[in-house]
Amino acid sequence: MSDSRTGNVPAGGESHPAPQVAVLDAGGQYCHLIARKVREQGVYAEVFASDTPAAELSSCRAIIISGGPDSVYAPGSPTVDPAIFKTGQPVLGICYGLQLMALLLGGQVAKGEKGEYGLAMLDVISPGVLFDGIGVPQQVWMSHRDRMTAMPPGFELLATTSTCAMAAMGDRSRRLYGVQFHPEVVHTHKGRELLSNFLFSIAGCVKDWSPRGRVAQLEQFIRETAAGRNVFFFVSGGVDSSVAYSLCLRALGADRVHGVYVDTGLMREGETEFVEKVFARQASGTFAVERAADSFLGALASVSDPEQKRLIIGEQFVRIQEQILQSGNYLDGNWILGQGTIYPDTIESGGTANADVIKTHHNRVPGIQRLLADGRIIEPLTSFYKDEVREIGRELGLPEQLLARHPFPGPGLAIRCLASESTLPVESVAGGWIIPVRSVGVQGDSRSYRHVLALDSFPSRQADLQARAAEMINATAGVNRAVALVASHASIGQFSVRESTLSEDRLARLRRADAIVRGVSAASGFENQVWQFPVVLIPVGQPSRPDSVVLRPVDSVDGMTAQSVAMEDGLLKDLADKLLQVPGVAAVFYDLTHKPPGTIEWE
Ligand code: XMP
Repeated sequence: MSDSRTGNVPAGGESHPAPQVAVLDAGGQYCHLIARKVREQGVYAEVFASDTPAAELSSCRAIIISGGPDSVYAPGSPTVDPAIFKTGQPVLGICYGLQLMALLLGGQVAKGEKGEYGLAMLDVISPGVLFDGIGVPQQVWMSHRDRMTAMPPGFELLATTSTCAMAAMGDRSRRLYGVQFHPEVVHTHKGRELLSNFLFSIAGCVKDWSPRGRVAQLEQFIRETAAGRNVFFFVSGGVDSSVAYSLCLRALGADRVHGVYVDTGLMREGETEFVEKVFARQASGTFAVERAADSFLGALASVSDPEQKRLIIGEQFVRIQEQILQSGNYLDGNWILGQGTIYPDTIESGGTANADVIKTHHNRVPGIQRLLADGRIIEPLTSFYKDEVREIGRELGLPEQLLARHPFPGPGLAIRCLASESTLPVESVAGGWIIPVRSVGVQGDSRSYRHVLALDSFPSRQADLQARAAEMINATAGVNRAVALVASHASIGQFSVRESTLSEDRLARLRRADAIVRGVSAASGFENQVWQFPVVLIPVGQPSRPDSVVLRPVDSVDGMTAQSVAMEDGLLKDLADKLLQVPGVAAVFYDLTHKPPGTIEWE
């Protein structure tokens, strides 16, 4: 297999067909989205480094060049091998991809001062195969700064918008196309049709991809890779490790596959029992729960610094995993380690935002390092995106409750339970209060660790406030987040930040609040409108009620950026009423901050 393919390709056996479509990664956050959208149409696509030599792509039926954050004129900006335009393979350039194509083929690109971001109406001026069946005007999503000002020789203008004169171009004879807008995002209403026209009518792709249809090949792949050895798994209860583990159980039988779930004491309410129930049934006798709450909570007892928390949790994981590996003799030659690594985790250039902390620590465990170095590892899901992993899980009959869950961080509730080393007063400022609880944010390229701006009362127009949150944060020194008070037992002015630790009783309080929120949001369907819904406990209140709950529902594609999501008033009131009944809870706040400048988690 080629070196330029940025993902690992599983050795031994085939867990996927050869890619028909190569998506060249020009550094855009949309690159994976493009590959996913192609696969959703039943065509197997993979992401390649942008400068992969054309010869290595010769077996692909089509090439797509992704968008990217750079200017084509920026030193060191991604480029492609110009030979890809001469092989006769159809190429579609998207956004930066179009500009790169224009530049390399003799057109012109002007540096933009002011970008164009958002919706535009597209007019097709030369209907052809690419726009077949796409009526006009048509809503498209634009996100670019530079723009093409002259098409290369041989191209004709296909479409335009009021703000972008050259929104799409094509050279039908060479089958080279470029679009300035993003067909891969849902805001481009007919994006799916455009991609379909390119894939099937222009490039002649055939349907060859269905994750559910690959279970038999995956089982075969697992049997070949295991080659008579047994497989050991650390199961986290997350979608990826659960599906990988279940696949191995099915391929090899429960006798040859052992799974251990480490209960850190930082789990959500009912989580350990739930995972135990799901896997005890599938793998009776070979699935075990390691109860390690005491050692985790003991080590965390007096810690409030987020980095310190992560470090301690990581060290505890290392210790316990090593102990399990040693005591079960899993390091001898009869065993290999199974992992739930999925496709985006394997892409170096894409740099996924948050490698699962448990996974990171897996790699730091000396025993695991040895297994990795010896190639004694099995990762059946390295070709699949998360949604595809879910499909496989459905095929295997795993419960929807497990498959449809939101992402949940490896360090668990520890990063959602904030503490303070001292008792501090809140401070009145124009428009609200500064609460001196520090949480993590992301401003510019780096992480910040700052106080919270709290608005006194919850206005009915949440959306307006969300839109203005960044402005308010910028205007207030020393903060990186804005929250609004939803309901409370007293006014914010009577509150203080309480000296506190990551104690068992505070974790229990958070666990209860989290369970209430999950119950209400599942019953109302709100859960399906958000990507993730952290519930955070902050030490803000009065002596009798020392903590407050923060609701943090967000929408996101990949966790790299996120939008605070508004909740319908009636539902919010119902939720707040229930939360105020939790003993020790003084108030309920709603996080209005997008990412950036906030992060999703508070830590
Ligand atoms: P932030 O807070 O950085 O989070 O905006 C982005 C996404 O990453 C998840 N997250 C983690 N996941 N281990 C994980 O497995 C971690 O240490 C961790 N920290 C953050 C977070 O839940 C969100 O989905």
